[in-house]
Amino acid sequence: MAWCCRRWRRVLICLCMPCCCLVFMYIFLAVLITMSMTSVTITQSFNEPTTSHFAAPGASGNDSVAPVPKTFWEQHLPDDAVWNKLQRSTDNHFNSILYPSKAKKVSERISFNDTLLKQTFSNIMSLERVKKNLEKLPREIKRFITNMQKRDYPVLIRPRRVCGAQAKHETQPPLILLAIKSRELNFKNRKAIRETWGQEGWVQGQKINSSDKQLVGGYVRRVFLLGKESSADLGVDITDVLRKENLRFGDILQWDFKDTFFNLTLKDVLFWNWFSSHCGQTHFILKGDDDVFVNTPKLITYLHNQLNKPQVSGTLENFMIGDVILAAQPNRDKRSKYFIPPSFYKGVYPVYAGGGGVVYSGLLARRLLNISQTVHLFPIDDVYVGMCMVLLNSHPLHHPAFLTFDISEKEEDEPCSYHSILLVHKRTPEQLVALWTDMEKTREQCKDAPLRDT
Ligand SMILES: *[C@@H]1O[C@H](CO)[C@@H](O)[C@H](O)[C@H]1NC(C)=O
Ligand SMILES: *[C@@H]1O[C@H](CO)[C@@H](O)[C@H](O)[C@H]1NC(C)=O
Ligand SMILES: *[C@@H]1O[C@H](CO)[C@@H](O)[C@H](O)[C@H]1NC(C)=O
Ligand SMILES: *[C@@H]1O[C@H](CO)[C@@H](O)[C@H](O)[C@H]1NC(C)=O
Ligand SMILES: *[C@@H]1O[C@H](CO)[C@@H](O)[C@H](O)[C@H]1NC(C)=O
Repeated sequence: MAWCCRRWRRVLICLCMPCCCLVFMYIFLAVLITMSMTSVTITQSFNEPTTSHFAAPGASGNDSVAPVPKTFWEQHLPDDAVWNKLQRSTDNHFNSILYPSKAKKVSERISFNDTLLKQTFSNIMSLERVKKNLEKLPREIKRFITNMQKRDYPVLIRPRRVCGAQAKHETQPPLILLAIKSRELNFKNRKAIRETWGQEGWVQGQKINSSDKQLVGGYVRRVFLLGKESSADLGVDITDVLRKENLRFGDILQWDFKDTFFNLTLKDVLFWNWFSSHCGQTHFILKGDDDVFVNTPKLITYLHNQLNKPQVSGTLENFMIGDVILAAQPNRDKRSKYFIPPSFYKGVYPVYAGGGGVVYSGLLARRLLNISQTVHLFPIDDVYVGMCMVLLNSHPLHHPAFLTFDISEKEEDEPCSYHSILLVHKRTPEQLVALWTDMEKTREQCKDAPLRDT
């Protein structure tokens, strides 16, 4: 064994080299583990264990509770990706080992304001290396970064009633709010939705079995989420037309930000904010595009069942179902509207539900609002929601009756095919109306059609 001895004053100090090495290695490993530990793993100890997640019936058994990549944005530590850098800097703040004095903050992550995001943003953006990196980014991403700290856009038009279009007298808390992403000029889409699957008021569900005399149904509310087109681009100012539309239907919620693809995430965070302060005890939210078809009666029945399941009460705060996408890679094709360059984001995307149509609980919306105050905006809206879900130690559940990538032609031709789904993308306003008429006609004939399974 190699001994290293030194005489210090009158004492002979001897150390065993391998022991020193071991000690140093241990310290090094401890530090390494600490550094790579994300706040995600820390928050877990404060939340419920993952096993308590509610699995949607009809979803694919064990597959629906797929492993969540808990460290999705930490996979490439030594990188220049701007978003990863920003988020890591924010997450480190909640790391009790890096910041022992602030350890308490970890449990408080859910009740944080966005001061921290502003602070980490200015810290990271002032780094020379980041500044150089920024210059090389595509124009749209640059524009996104310039505005990514701002979330307090004022409301331009708000629904006439407090939480969107709703029945005059609701005798119980509304079952669902349909929150539909629309754009100023999509008048026809909104009209078709109002006349078909998006009617407000009491909606009768379908009886689960014919001998069951219980009336299943629920109150539906509706709101369209709009940004603003620039009048310079449009050539006209259509504000007055929209105001009139809202006067008549009472379902327009418009904010003063430019309605671009990369700004869609704002329709999530601003919506959560509005929902939390206006929509009381609304049980569920359907957030979707204005070109989807929804089988509302079936959805009502499905959600009604979720609500009445005794085991659900504790887990409804994690409830999110949709068309779930696992371990997606960012799109690196420059011509795609989903294009995200590696210098902006590296790593896989978290588990997320396709943004064409997703259903979650009102309880979850409030939690998402809070946690989003510690997550930097990301240009792809549904991925952003997935990121927030990971921090809540939760993830969406896949349901095969959500078809955000359309139905195959063969299946479409089968009788009752549309009665076995909850949502399908994408349909023109004319198709919506035709489909709805057809569904009404075949409702009796197809009343026992079960929901799609795997
Ligand atoms: C799910 O997994 C557990 C244990 O891995 C197994 O016992 C159970 O049968 C599985 N359930 C289904 C529906 O496959
Ligand atoms: C969200 O944060 C606010 C204020 O910090 C807090 O009062 C509220 O209880 C939090 N809500 C949830 C669902 O965590
Ligand atoms: C945000 O939180 C910090 C402390 O975490 C506090 O000092 C600040 O006043 C808060 N800002 C707002 C606008 O509430
Ligand atoms: C139908 O509902 C009734 C009353 O709830 C129940 O007793 C019966 O078992 C159900 N039948 C089927 C086939 O599920
Ligand atoms: C988002 O909206 C803001 C406010 O209108 C605008 O300045 C910004 O350019 C928009 N961002 C993108 C990426 O279009």
